[in-house]
Amino acid sequence: MTAQRKILVTSALPYANGSIHLGHMVETIQTDIWVRFQKMRGHDCIYVCADDAHGTAIMLTAEKLGKTPEQQIADMKAEHERDFAGFLIGFDNYHSTHSSENKELSELIYSRLKANGHIAERMITQAYDPEKGLFLADRYIKGTCPKCKTPDQYGDNCEACGATYSPMDLIDPKSAISGATPIAKESKHLFFKLPEFTEYLREWTRAGHLQPEVANKLAEWLEGGLQEWDISRDAPYFGFEIPGEPDKYFYVWLDAPIGYMASLKNLCDRTGRDFSSYWKPDSDAEVYHFIGKDIINFHALFWPAMLSSAQFRTPTKVCAHGFLTVNGKKMSKSRGTFVNARTYLEHLDPEYLRYYYASKLTAGVDDLDLNLDDFVARVNSDLVGKVVNIASRTAKFVQQQGGVLSQEIADTALWQKFVDANEPIAQLFEERDFGRAMREIMALADAANEYIATQAPWSMAKEAGREKEVLAVCTLGINMFAALMTWLKPVLPKTAAAAEEFLDTELTWRNATLFLSSHKINAFKPLMRRVELEKVNQMIEASKSEAPAPAAAAPTGWLAKDPIAEEIEYADFAKVDLRIAKIIAAEPVAGADKLLQLTLDLGGQTRNVFAGIKSAYDPATLVGKHTVMVANLKPRKMKFGLSEGMVLAAGPGGKEIFLLEPDTGAEPGMKVM
Ligand code: 2FM
Ligand code: ZN
Repeated sequence: MTAQRKILVTSALPYANGSIHLGHMVETIQTDIWVRFQKMRGHDCIYVCADDAHGTAIMLTAEKLGKTPEQQIADMKAEHERDFAGFLIGFDNYHSTHSSENKELSELIYSRLKANGHIAERMITQAYDPEKGLFLADRYIKGTCPKCKTPDQYGDNCEACGATYSPMDLIDPKSAISGATPIAKESKHLFFKLPEFTEYLREWTRAGHLQPEVANKLAEWLEGGLQEWDISRDAPYFGFEIPGEPDKYFYVWLDAPIGYMASLKNLCDRTGRDFSSYWKPDSDAEVYHFIGKDIINFHALFWPAMLSSAQFRTPTKVCAHGFLTVNGKKMSKSRGTFVNARTYLEHLDPEYLRYYYASKLTAGVDDLDLNLDDFVARVNSDLVGKVVNIASRTAKFVQQQGGVLSQEIADTALWQKFVDANEPIAQLFEERDFGRAMREIMALADAANEYIATQAPWSMAKEAGREKEVLAVCTLGINMFAALMTWLKPVLPKTAAAAEEFLDTELTWRNATLFLSSHKINAFKPLMRRVELEKVNQMIEASKSEAPAPAAAAPTGWLAKDPIAEEIEYADFAKVDLRIAKIIAAEPVAGADKLLQLTLDLGGQTRNVFAGIKSAYDPATLVGKHTVMVANLKPRKMKFGLSEGMVLAAGPGGKEIFLLEPDTGAEPGMKVM
């Protein structure tokens, strides 16, 4: 084994503005597997992360929720930590960018950039919301596209015709926050002089810190010429005020990566580790950043340039991954495929997803598809059907003979295959080629199962005098299982712990293929249950009924208007059977914040419908009223029961949801034209 390495690992810092979802989990699971692997190899590896707590979006979310930004970020941090723990993510520290360590480090780095002449000052003109008293980023301005005249387009590009423009070019622009017409206003901004680092970055991006496809992409950007980077924002802003610049704040993306250092600093201060040994220019530690491919420019251009100007070392590697799709499509709230981490954990075991992601992760930046049928099939076939099966088919015969393994290796050629695989599998983990590692492991699990099936210890055990043979076959089975579980331990820490108890040994990489002989094992207990498709479906249904979470740094959703859906034929419309329904009972639903359970009289038949109208109606006031319902909607199984139709309502949400109430004289069951 190589000498002990000192490694610092980070995952991108999630915004304190929304819940963790299965997209985030691709990255944290990938990082956590890599970290657990390094720790198992005996390296001094630490994994830090934090919430990314600053910016306009967080300030506005807090305001909308009637909280202070500090309360909002504290609540979010607790939720994030709980969800990550649920997925067995083993951070050594989880901090916040709104921390004293981050303030100090951000000020230090800024002061060095400034002293080195890498900060420029310029007046710029921006859109300003005179009502709200706030400069507006492009995504907070909406209006009519100047080119194709489609209304309700964002300030930087048109979704209809693809035109790009400046927000002031929009026809009839409006602030998405207050609805006011923005005015143009000048103010001084501070810029990081990125173009001065062009040569440095040309070299740095080719020096083995990046995946080849990422380096190629950056070469194109470098060819196109770099721009100075605007690192200041005017008050009001939730962040750190810039020293010597009253009412100017560091842009969230300036102090976010510094948050990696701040989280480490916080850990070092608590544990006596030496912070500077990680970040000094000649550090012998390795620094690995795991990120999504959308934030490569921040990590592979701005960040190394800033670090080098501020006399800190730069990352050893920036490891980018692709995006998550579900069933081949972008995650979607209406399809129920935008699944929050919490919702997943309410229905399914975290190790299923850890394994599924591992089996599909590569060292590249390709997107990863969570195909739900494949998810069920693969977890059941590989983990339950192959790996755990080896132990469950052999353990009882060892127990029948006192629970002590034999001294003999019944098939040395087969065992040699396992011995030979140990280092190549480690290499695949090291290179983050987890998908290939899982395939190698499963190929060996197949070989183990074939051997057991051919030997059939269950038949042998029925014949007198073959006890020794049975024990030898099952001993090899148990040893193959132990090796497989060792290699899977970074992916399945919980099952590996249960296997360690069963095997009465610690699974370490060094000992992965050290044959356990004359060793007493404990009674076998089932290690993993099959995934039930039913549970997956329930998770999707629950995700459909959840309120949309405010998207990270996205436009304030509650003000953005819904675009008109695709045109449909009259025949499609005619299929919708709208009927008058009388509400005969209305009740809150335990465990659902938004739902009311309605019992509707449809003139002869009653229907049970769950409607997301609790914010607007006191259930008692609804009883006896008439409404309009879609009577021929296929019943939908929800977490709380079967919903047999849908009531029609209009309005922006919150208190303003108006049930469509027909004129008096309407009879239950009557058709609505
Ligand atoms: O894209 C994001 O979700 C950012 N919050 C990531 C920040 S990573 C690091 F630079 F802090
Ligand atoms: Zn347009």
